[in-house]
Amino acid sequence: MKPILIKDILVSSPDGREITVYGWVRTKRDSKNLVFIQVNDGSCFSSIQLTFDRDENINNPELKNLESQFKKITTGASVKATGKLIPSPSSGQAVEVTLEKIEVLGEAPAETYPLQKKGHTVEFLREIAHLRPRTNIIASAARIRSQMAYAIHTFFYERGFHYFNAPIITASDCEGAGEMFQVTTLDLERIAADGVKAGAKGMSVEKAANLVDYSKDFFGKKASLTVSGQLEAETYATALSRVYTFGPTFRAENSNTPRHLAEFWMIEPEMAFYELEDNMDLAEEFVKYLLNWALTKCTEDMQFFEQRVQKGLIETLTHVANSDFVRITYTDAIKQLEKLNDKFEFKVFWGCDLQTEHERYLTEQIYKKPVMVYDYPKEIKAFYMKLNEDGKTVRAVDVLVPGIGELIGGSERESNYEKLENRIKEMNMDPQDYWWYLELRKYGTVPHSGFGLGFERLLRYITGLGNLRDVIPFFRAPKQAEF
Ligand code: 4AD
Ligand code: MG
Repeated sequence: MKPILIKDILVSSPDGREITVYGWVRTKRDSKNLVFIQVNDGSCFSSIQLTFDRDENINNPELKNLESQFKKITTGASVKATGKLIPSPSSGQAVEVTLEKIEVLGEAPAETYPLQKKGHTVEFLREIAHLRPRTNIIASAARIRSQMAYAIHTFFYERGFHYFNAPIITASDCEGAGEMFQVTTLDLERIAADGVKAGAKGMSVEKAANLVDYSKDFFGKKASLTVSGQLEAETYATALSRVYTFGPTFRAENSNTPRHLAEFWMIEPEMAFYELEDNMDLAEEFVKYLLNWALTKCTEDMQFFEQRVQKGLIETLTHVANSDFVRITYTDAIKQLEKLNDKFEFKVFWGCDLQTEHERYLTEQIYKKPVMVYDYPKEIKAFYMKLNEDGKTVRAVDVLVPGIGELIGGSERESNYEKLENRIKEMNMDPQDYWWYLELRKYGTVPHSGFGLGFERLLRYITGLGNLRDVIPFFRAPKQAEF
C-alpha cells in the first residue's frame, strides 16, 4: 500500500477510517493507562498524535506485541502505525489516531541519539548536519527553501522567461574578483615533486613554475567553478529575450561570516531590451512576490519562525511586501552616510565600496525598508556594467534589505563593443578571454539588464535565521566540507 503523508492525513475527515502512519517519533508519553506518541514525517510542520488506551485494549490480541513495541519507542525511532482516524479531544489538533498496531522500523537508542533532547543550538546542529533536518528549525527552513524554489520558477514562468542552465565549470571570471575555485586534473603532487627535482638540478623558480602546463590540463586551459552564470545567460537572453538561471555558484573568498558561503545558489534573470529602471522594477516585484508567497503559502513554518526565531518577523515582511522600495543613487547615499561618519568603523567617502555596516545603516536606520542603491563608481563594480554619460559611474544596482544588507546585485550591461572592450582593458583583463562575450555586442547588440539574487540570503531574510549555514542543507565554508 502506498504510504499517505501526514500532511494529508491531518486534513482528512476523522470518520473512523483505518489508516497507516509512517514517520519518526518526536515524543512519547506513557502514563498508567494511556500512551501518546507524536509522529512526524516532515511533510508539514505538524506531527500526528497516536493514542493508546490500555483499558480499552484488554482484549486486543495484539496487546502483548504493542507493549513490546512501546518499550522500543524513543524520540527518533521510525515507526509504521495503524489505527482509526478520529476527531481529537485535545486542543491544537483536529484529528488523531487510536492505535491498533505499531511496528518500530528502526530504533534510536536514547543513550546515543544526539537529538534525544530538545533545545540544541544551531551551532551544535551544524556538527550533525546529517541528522539536523529532523529538528523543527531545520525542517522548516528546508520546506521553505523548496517552496521558494517553486515560487521562483513560477514567477518567471508567468512572465515569459525561459529557465537557462549555465555551465558550472568555466574558463572566464565573471566578476573579475579572482575568487574562483580551480578545477584541474593535473597531478599536483607529481608536479610539486618534479619542481623539487628540477630545483635540485639548478632550475630557477620562474622556470619551475612553468612545470604547470595548463595545455596538458583536462580543458587545455585554466578552468574554475563558476562565480556567476551571468555571462552565459547574456548569450541566451540575446536570443530568447528573457532567461533566468537558478543554480549553484562558488566563491573562494575567505570570509567566515554569517552572510557568506563558498557554495551558494543564485537566481540570475537576464532580459533583453531592459534598461536599469526596468531591471529595478523587476527586482522589486520579484522580492515582493517571494515574500508574499512565503507569507501566504508557508504559514505553518512561518508561524514557527515568528514564535521561535524572530518576533515580529511576519509583520515586518508583510510591511515590506506592501511598500515601495527606496531608490537612491550611490552619490546621494554617500551624502547621507558621510554625515554619520563618526558612527562607522570604515569612514565613508565618494568612491568607497559600501561596507555591510553602511548598507545596514541605510536600510535599517534611515529608511527602515529595502533600499535600491544605483549608479555606483565604475572602479568598484564589475567590467560589464554600462557606463553612464558622466564617464565615472555605471548603471549598477544593489538591493539592500534590513537585517541582511545586500540581497541582490545587478546592472544594465554595456552593450557597446568599443566601450566594453575599453573597460576590459582598463581593468587589466585580456579581451581575448572574453571574445565570445564581446561578439554579443558585435552582432545584433541590444540594451539588456539583469541581476543576481542570493538564494540563501533570501531564505535568511524570510526565516529570520541568523546564518546562511542553516538555510542550505550542507554548507560549504572555509575548512568546512565534512558532510
Ligand atoms: O553581487 P554579485 O556578486 O553579482 C553577480 O554575481 C552578478 N553576476 C549578478 C548579475 O547581475 N547577474 O552576487 C549577487 C548576489 C549578492 O547580492 C548576494 O545576495 C549573493 O549573490 N552572494 C552570496 N551569497 C552567499 N554567499 C556568498 N559568498 C555570496 N556572494 C554573493
Ligand atoms: Mg554584489
